[in-house]
Amino acid sequence: MNRRFLPTVAAVLCAITFGATNVLALQDGLARTPPMGFNTWNYFGCRNASRRVDENMIKQIADAFISKGMAEVGYEYVNIDDCWAQGTRDARGGLAADPQYFPNGMRAIADYVHSKGLKFGLYTDVGTSTCATCYGTGGLPGMLNHEQQDCDTFVAWGVDYLKIDFCCHDNRPAVQQYTKVRDCLRAAVTRMKDKVPDAHPIVYSICNWGEQEPWKWGDTVGHLWRTTRDISNQYGSQMDNLDKNTPLWPYARIGAWNDPDMLEVGYGDFATNYARARTHFALWCMSAAPLLAGNDIRSMSTQIQEILINKDAIDINQDTLGGDTTMGIIQGRKVVSGNSEVWVKLLKGQTSSEYAVMLFNRSNNSPVTISVTTDQIKSIGGDMKNGNKYEVRDVWGKRDLEDWTAGGTFTSPEPVGVNDVFMARLKIPPVKVISQYTCVNVCPMDVQSEGERIVIRSKTTGPMGIRIVNLKGEVAYSNQMIAPLDYSISTKGMARGMYVVDVINGMEQFRQKIYLK
Ligand code: GLA
Repeated sequence: MNRRFLPTVAAVLCAITFGATNVLALQDGLARTPPMGFNTWNYFGCRNASRRVDENMIKQIADAFISKGMAEVGYEYVNIDDCWAQGTRDARGGLAADPQYFPNGMRAIADYVHSKGLKFGLYTDVGTSTCATCYGTGGLPGMLNHEQQDCDTFVAWGVDYLKIDFCCHDNRPAVQQYTKVRDCLRAAVTRMKDKVPDAHPIVYSICNWGEQEPWKWGDTVGHLWRTTRDISNQYGSQMDNLDKNTPLWPYARIGAWNDPDMLEVGYGDFATNYARARTHFALWCMSAAPLLAGNDIRSMSTQIQEILINKDAIDINQDTLGGDTTMGIIQGRKVVSGNSEVWVKLLKGQTSSEYAVMLFNRSNNSPVTISVTTDQIKSIGGDMKNGNKYEVRDVWGKRDLEDWTAGGTFTSPEPVGVNDVFMARLKIPPVKVISQYTCVNVCPMDVQSEGERIVIRSKTTGPMGIRIVNLKGEVAYSNQMIAPLDYSISTKGMARGMYVVDVINGMEQFRQKIYLK
């Protein structure tokens, strides 16, 4: 098919599937994985005397990203939420930071955050006032009727991430207001280029709490959209948000994320109940949700820190399916409901798929053993076939369990505690290259393990014979062909153990031993 028409055909197919007319996520290279960082709102709130948000505090938060190991595992956005602004606009009608809290202004903070290798996020509102100050008099200014000027300001301040709320919006349709801001943010990058050497596009977080179905239009407007009302630090609120977000999996794709709100891990019901803290984090990871810590990361306990920086869990959240931008395959799904929930998320891609499996004891009763069938795992797609062998990584136990073979059921190794999860990654075992001991003129030739395949890369094409023999001399694979430069052989069905790979090209021969795990 003519390549020029492929995007159009894909768009039409998606439109038919999802009933949407706007189907292409923003292709600006931003938010290719769910954004990770911190936001002030959940714990620090608005002008709380004992939980002050000011220049020093934000700098300390940026420092904590480094000292607590958060930056190392991918947290990058240091985001200030509502209540940073001065009540009145400046003489030219521009936004200004409240000098009582931010005496050196926002650019100074952005510079500090950037100097740590991190990114800086800020909050505003499409209406006349921000949400915390919308009712009554003396509200903090929103963007309405100042859109371009404010967009220019955010670009000039070096903002990398902007959360935009929906209070005091004067009954304007959300899609209209949010699109206006998308366009002014784009224009601002061009308008400010001469004055601001580092003018750059901004990650755009739409925050209208799931009103007016942002999942149906958000992908062409911003990079993520809230699907729910505000989360609180109560377990019930977290589960409510989760349940509203879960059925929206068809709308998520790379660069366009459902946002069930920021994390409460380390706060309220999730401060010392580590089962719930783990579960909250695990559910957000399975849901490909943004991971924005909402606790005071400067003083969090080691237990909470270990939850937030669990690399195996974060890898599940950040997996890009090998760059596949198809809608509806990247967000994990609940495949079994009830007291014992089962969630599955496709990883790495639709071929050579790995899977994250989460077994969740939602009940408040007692620990239970939870199982999932191969068919339930396979129901989300990918290329799992009965007989395929997977290594099992226990995400929270931080250990490798016995391999699992598709076809049977997958069961938690121990009963899962109340409100706790067992979470595992089903990994494709690597093919291990042991040694290369014969190589005549065809070298260099490269034999590699890539998922459940052996890939042979040669210098030249030409007639070639390939034989793979186990140590008993039994031939596991044999073929003669005009070999392409890259030749790939499936190892499915080959038993674990040592093999010898022979590649014969005319009078030349290459031999390598490999171990199939
Ligand atoms: C709204 C948003 C919250 C927070 C507050 C700030 O309620 O949904 O996440 O930003 O406004 O006022």
